Amino acid sequence: MKVIAFNASPNKEAGTTALILNPFLKGMAEEGAEIELKYIYDLKIEPCRECTKNIDFEPDLDCKIDDDLKELYPLMNDADLWIFASPNYLNSVTSGLKNLFDRLEPLFVPPHIYENNACYEKIRSSLTKRTTPGKVLLISTCGLWGIENFDAIIEQTRAVADMLGREYLPPILRPHSGVLTTLTNLGKPANDIYEAAEKAGRQLMKQGFIENELLQYISRELVPKDSFLHELSLLVR
Ligand SMILES: Cc1cc2nc3c(=O)[nH]c(=O)nc-3n(C[C@H](O)[C@H](O)[C@H](O)COP(=O)(O)O)c2cc1C
Repeated sequence: MKVIAFNASPNKEAGTTALILNPFLKGMAEEGAEIELKYIYDLKIEPCRECTKNIDFEPDLDCKIDDDLKELYPLMNDADLWIFASPNYLNSVTSGLKNLFDRLEPLFVPPHIYENNACYEKIRSSLTKRTTPGKVLLISTCGLWGIENFDAIIEQTRAVADMLGREYLPPILRPHSGVLTTLTNLGKPANDIYEAAEKAGRQLMKQGFIENELLQYISRELVPKDSFLHELSLLVR
């Protein structure tokens, strides 16, 4: 399986998103996945200029903007799985990842757009050369306590998968992620979470899906909600 993974945290390797993403990728690699890991905040990705609105716009597998996406479009097109690993920033993916989403137009296959008797769908299908639809997996971390803090980000990334004609896999979510770092600093690293993430990577490769129980384990409560809210209230005093 060909995988392209984007770490969309400005904290890159030092962030909590990497704490979940990296063991997950390790598990996948152990089972034979070919993985390209990219750090969004190391890439030059300019904002979309919406040149598609020009009357003479022609669909292409390329973009008019000359930046790091030139090399990434073919890799993304080839990849069976796209992994978007992002912290929750105000109930959205980070701006770096949103910027990438906006630039995915060259991989977009509009369902039924006809112009000058040409069907874009046919043009795009022959350009993409994909015989099976690819998949999208969200891995997200957030600072607040509950899993419901991912609702908006799930909808956002599901919409991207839908628009790009890819299957949306059940996401890997790690709420109150800051507690992971606190536990590590206290000498009590939550190794069981990292092991579960690695196992999830292996499972996805072997079974084609991650069991719900395992997904829930990765999201498991690290501190009771009351203690979390109490600590938070002390911080904001
Ligand atoms: C600008 C900003 C906005 C954030 N917004 C939210 C939010 O809406 N909900 C939430 O639970 N956490 C929020 N957080 C916390 C991050 O999601 C959390 O710390 C995340 O795990 C950081 O990932 P990283 O360590 O990989 O960078 C925000 C953090 C920042 C810096």
